[in-house]
Amino acid sequence: RSFPRDLYRAEDVRAMDRYAIETVGIPGIELMRRAGASAFAALRQRWPEARTLSAICGSGNNGGDAYVVARLAHDAGMDVRVYPVAPPTNLKGDALTAYQDYRAAGGETLDFIPADFEGAEVLVDGIFGTGLDREVGGYYADVIKAINRFSGHVVALDIPSGLHADTGSALGVAVKADLTVTFIGLKQGLFTGEGPEYAGEIVFSDLDTPPEVRYSVKPSAMLLPPWERGLPARPRHAHKGHFGHVLVVGGDSGYSGAARMAAEAAARVGAGLVSIATRKSHADLLNLTRPELMCHGVETIDDLRAPLERATVVAIGPGLGRSEWAKMLLDAVLNTDLPIVVDADALNLLAESTRTRDNWVLTPHPGEAARLLGATSQEIQKDRFDAVLKLQTKFGGVIVLKGAGSLVCGPDRLPRVCTAGNPGMASGGMGDVLTGVIAGLLAQRLDLFDAASLGVQLHAAAGDEAAKGGERGLLACDLMDPLRRLIN
Ligand code: APR
Repeated sequence: RSFPRDLYRAEDVRAMDRYAIETVGIPGIELMRRAGASAFAALRQRWPEARTLSAICGSGNNGGDAYVVARLAHDAGMDVRVYPVAPPTNLKGDALTAYQDYRAAGGETLDFIPADFEGAEVLVDGIFGTGLDREVGGYYADVIKAINRFSGHVVALDIPSGLHADTGSALGVAVKADLTVTFIGLKQGLFTGEGPEYAGEIVFSDLDTPPEVRYSVKPSAMLLPPWERGLPARPRHAHKGHFGHVLVVGGDSGYSGAARMAAEAAARVGAGLVSIATRKSHADLLNLTRPELMCHGVETIDDLRAPLERATVVAIGPGLGRSEWAKMLLDAVLNTDLPIVVDADALNLLAESTRTRDNWVLTPHPGEAARLLGATSQEIQKDRFDAVLKLQTKFGGVIVLKGAGSLVCGPDRLPRVCTAGNPGMASGGMGDVLTGVIAGLLAQRLDLFDAASLGVQLHAAAGDEAAKGGERGLLACDLMDPLRRLIN
C-alpha cells in the first residue's frame, strides 16, 4: 500500500475510527484485530528470525492492540512474554476482549518486568497510543526508560508511548522505536520535531477500511512529496530576462559569505540574473570569487535605489546584522511591492515591528520563530504545527519553519511537512542556501507557496544527495552542484 500524504490530529483519527465502526459497520474488535495483525506482519517481515517477543500492554485500546500481537506471536509458535503495566482486570470493551482472546489461546501475563526483558528479540510497545493525555511520570516513565535501554528491536503500536500525536514532542519521556506501525490515519506528530527520532521507520495500515473513512475528516497537515522531477525544460528561445533578477541584501562586515551563498544558490537553481547589495568593502572581493554575481557596495539608501529598481525578487537577511545600516536596508526593501524572502537578522528586525504582507516568504529557524512570536525556542519546538500557524496568522504570506521536519504554511493554513533532509544540514550557511533557492524559484515566476514548498523539498533533496559522502563535515556550498542537477 502506498503511503498517504494526508496527516491528522489524534482527535481526527478517533473520529475516523468511529466512522469506520458506526457508519461503515466494522466492529471495533475487528479493527483492533486488523491493527494487531498488520503490526505483527510488519515485524515478522523485518525480523523473520526472531523467536522471542515481549509485549508491554497499557490499560487502553493501545494495550488491546498489543494483546492481539501477543496472541498472533503465540499462535505462530514464538516464545511470548506479556507485561501489563495496569491490571488486566481494569481493561474494558475491545481491549478486554483482546486480552481474553490471548488468554484463551494459552497466553500468560507476568507481573514484573525483568532487566533487559530477559533477552527478548522484539519488544512491542502498547502502553499509550493516541489516548495519552498528560505528562508521563512515575512507574510508566520507569517502564519507558527500561524500554529505551533494551538492546533488541522495539515496535511501537500506532505511536511511540509518550510521544504526543499532534505535536511530535515527548510528554516527559517517550519510547524510542525502531518501527512504528500506525493505523487508520497518519498522525501529524510522527513527522516533525522529535517525532521521527522516536518513531523510527513508519509503516501505515488503513486496516482495510474504505477511502470514505479518510474522507470523513479534513487533514490537519500534509506531507510534501519527495523531490522527483526538476522544473520543465527552458524554451529554446529563452533569454536571461525570462528568469528574473534576484537581489540579495545582506553581508554586513565579516558576513559577506552568507550573502554570497544565498546569491549563488539562487543562480544555481536558475535565476536569470543575481545581484548582491552588501557593504562597500565586500563588493569587489565577492565579484572576484564569483564573477557571475553582480555586487553593489551600498552604504546609503541612494546606493540601493538602482539595484532595487532592476530586481524582480529580493532576498534579505543573510549576514545582514542588526545595525542602523541593516534597518535602513530592510525599510527600503519593505517599501517596494516586490516579492521578498526574509531570513536571519531581517527576521530578528521584523520581530520588533508589526508589519504584515501577502507577498513575502519568512524562513525562521526555531530561535527566530521564537523572537517573532515572543516565545522561547523550546516552546516553538514543543508544538511546531501550532507555531507555524501562529506565524502565518501574525505575519501573512508564506512561512517556512526550519529545523528537522521543516514546515511550510501559506494562506490555506494547511501546514506541509518536509521529511527529507538530514542532520548533516545542521551547519552554518544551510539557511542562506535555502533563502537563495526560494528566491531563485520566485524569480522564475513560481508563485509564493510553490517557491517555498518546492524550495524546501529541493534544498532537502540536495542536502541528502550531498550527504552521501557523510553527514559530518557537510558544507552549505556542497549543495550547489546537487541543486543544479536536481533542478534540471
Ligand atoms: N500516564 C498514565 N496513564 C495515562 C497517561 C499518562 N500520561 N495518558 C493516558 N493515560 C491512560 C488513559 O487514562 C487511558 O486509560 O492511558 C489510557 C489510554 O491509552 P490509549 O490506549 O492510548 O487510549 P485509547 O483511547 O484507549 O486507545 C487509543 O487504541 O485504537 C488503538 O492504538 C490505537 O492509539 C490508538 C489507541
